[in-house]
Amino acid sequence: MDGAAVLANAATTTTTAGRGVRRESANGGSLSRSPYLTTNFSFLPHNSKLQNQLRFTLKNAPTTYGISNARAVRVDSPLSSVPSEAVDIDWDALGFGLVHTDYMYTMKCSLGGNFSNGELVPFGNIEINPSAGVLNYGQGLFEGLKAYRREDGNILLFRPKENATRMMMGAERMCMPSPSVDQFLQAVKATVLANERWIPPPGKGSLYIRPLLMGTGSILGLGPAPEYTFLIYVSPVGNYFKEGLSPINLLVETDMHRACPGGTGGVKTIGNYAAVLKAQGAAKAKGFSDVLYLNSVNKKLLEEVSSCNIFVVKGNTISTPEIEGTILPGITRKSIIDMARDQGFQVFEKPVTVDELLEADEVFCTGTAVVVSPVGSITYLGKRVTYGSGGVGVVSQRLYSELTRLQMGLVDDKMGWTVELK
Ligand SMILES: Cc1ncc(COP(=O)(O)O)c(C=O)c1O
Repeated sequence: MDGAAVLANAATTTTTAGRGVRRESANGGSLSRSPYLTTNFSFLPHNSKLQNQLRFTLKNAPTTYGISNARAVRVDSPLSSVPSEAVDIDWDALGFGLVHTDYMYTMKCSLGGNFSNGELVPFGNIEINPSAGVLNYGQGLFEGLKAYRREDGNILLFRPKENATRMMMGAERMCMPSPSVDQFLQAVKATVLANERWIPPPGKGSLYIRPLLMGTGSILGLGPAPEYTFLIYVSPVGNYFKEGLSPINLLVETDMHRACPGGTGGVKTIGNYAAVLKAQGAAKAKGFSDVLYLNSVNKKLLEEVSSCNIFVVKGNTISTPEIEGTILPGITRKSIIDMARDQGFQVFEKPVTVDELLEADEVFCTGTAVVVSPVGSITYLGKRVTYGSGGVGVVSQRLYSELTRLQMGLVDDKMGWTVELK
């Protein structure tokens, strides 16, 4: 019996999302057709090794990774099906924790080759060789973007092409091949539509999309891995900081650095994030929300927070550290700069000093996960400076509203930033 038959004949799929458990009949009683999944995607891996792996995962990892009593949804081109039954989830309780969904996307490529044969497979464990480049030498990148459900049922992505381009730039820095912009976009769309029922209702959150690019080929001596995997998984999310839109409290880190000139701070490589855990953990243990990093050369200039960019407001002027290779060129940052200029603010991308930070009227952070997050206080060398009267600053509130209304499709998108999926 081949992998396809095994998968087609298995009885049910059960997915747990922490709360809800759903079952579907093998003949597709609760499945509906996705208009998108019509051509290139099969729920079965083309590669026989991966078929075996999937078969193993489905049969033997029933409880820990959300797939049990395996039945893959066998999809024969040109028609594909995705589950449409409502998920049992408390949308009001969403935070930024992982919720397992139905499908993930994978696509492979050898060093010097091109990515091809992408496919959707049930969400679950992946098999990886202990000598994979990503495990041994950190050859990995990730991206983050969101899909929003609009009142009319349509689904919106926010500037996904920017994420595709940033992944390509990061891949170049990390000596990895990357999917083309078009492949990235098609893969994101397919993954979102296959997991459509996990997109929160309007106003309740979004579907966070996490594309990964990793050196999965085996390599012992230091060098680029011989094979790469592009993978996308998704999770419904609410607020990133437990504070929500309430102001966060940042600690300026003066000993540890996130990045250095000539390093990899400007790309979204996985090692940048492991490197901040120590400082972030220590700050959180003292009650701070996160850490603000300074430049490593003289510790006088702001860089960014662990997972977001920073803006400083003084009067009608908004300043944010310039992109010089040590901070991530945030897509939210870029969007907020345009929006603020459009609203009549003078916006400067320039070196921003700690003194400017301490004397600001208002400070806020930006990022896909954090959106626009007002900063209530900054602590620098034991001195705490607070902004406003503890509430959300006027500028932060205005930019937050304008950005989120655009992302959720509540206002006309005159910037042409949103992409409709249906
Ligand atoms: C280090 C870092 N800076 C900034 C950002 C904000 O980038 P974006 O607005 O593209 O999400 C992120 C988020 O991914 C990040 O990880």
